[in-house]
Amino acid sequence: MSHEWQAPKEGDVRSPCPALNAMANHGYLPRDGKNITPRQLFESLQEVFNETTFLATFQVVNCFTMYGKWFAGKISLEDLQTHGKLEHDASLCHVDTALGENWVVKKDLVDQLIANAIDGKIQPESLKNTFRARYSDSKEKNPGFTFGSFQVQLASGEYSLFLNIIGANTNKEVDAKVAEIFFHEERLADEWTRPNSPVSFPTIVGTNFEFSKIMNAEIKELTS
Ligand code: HEM
Repeated sequence: MSHEWQAPKEGDVRSPCPALNAMANHGYLPRDGKNITPRQLFESLQEVFNETTFLATFQVVNCFTMYGKWFAGKISLEDLQTHGKLEHDASLCHVDTALGENWVVKKDLVDQLIANAIDGKIQPESLKNTFRARYSDSKEKNPGFTFGSFQVQLASGEYSLFLNIIGANTNKEVDAKVAEIFFHEERLADEWTRPNSPVSFPTIVGTNFEFSKIMNAEIKELTS
C-alpha cells in the first residue's frame, strides 16, 4: 500500500489531532478517516510512531472508552471533534469549538507557533509561549472558555507526545520546518524519521508532568 501523502478529498473526515490526521493523509489509517478499528489504530501508532505496546494500547483503550465505541468496534476521526472529551479550548493550531470548526487547521495559528521557534526549533519554551498566547486569546474571545486541571493534563500530554515522538531522533526538539509541515499540512516531512527506539508510556507521562507544572504556573500568572 502506498503511504504517499494525499490531501483529504471531499467527504473525508478529519479530527483536531495532527498526528491522527497525518496517519490518514499517508494512508496508515483509512484515508476517508472513517471506520477505524482498535487494531488499525494500535498497529498504525506502532508502525508510524514506534510506540511501545503499552503506550499504544493505553491510547487505543482510552480513545475507544472515552467515545463509547467498543460496541460499534469502530471510530471515525470526526468523533474526536466532540468538545469536552479529548477536545479542549486553547489548542495550538485550532480555534475553540465555540468559535469555529475545531478540526480545521488555522494557518495564522501555525504561523504563531512557528514564530515561537528558538534557534529554528520548536522546544518546550516555544510551546509554553504559544500556550500562553492561546490561553489569553481564548479567554478573551470565548465566553464559555474552560481550561481546568483536566484540560491541563490533556494539553500537556499532547505537547509531550509531540516532543517525544516527532522530536524523538532530534533531542526532543523539532525542526521548525518539520513542525510546520506536521501542524499545517498534517504530513510527515521527508526529513522526519520514525523514532529509532520505542517511545514508552513513562517517557510520555514524565514530560506530561513537567508541562503540567509549567502550564499551571502560567495559568496562575495569567489569572492573578
Ligand atoms: C489514539 C491516539 C490519539 C488520539 C485519540 C488523539 C486525539 C487528539 C485530540 C482529540 C486532539 C485535540 C485536542 C485539542 O482540542 O487541542 C489531539 C491534539 C493533539 N494531538 Fe493527538 N491523539 C492521539 C495521538 C497523538 C500522537 C501519537 C501525537 C504525536 C505524535 C499527537 C499529537 C497531538 C498534538 C500535538 C495535538 C495538539 C494540536 C493543537 O493543539 O492544535 N496525538 N489529539
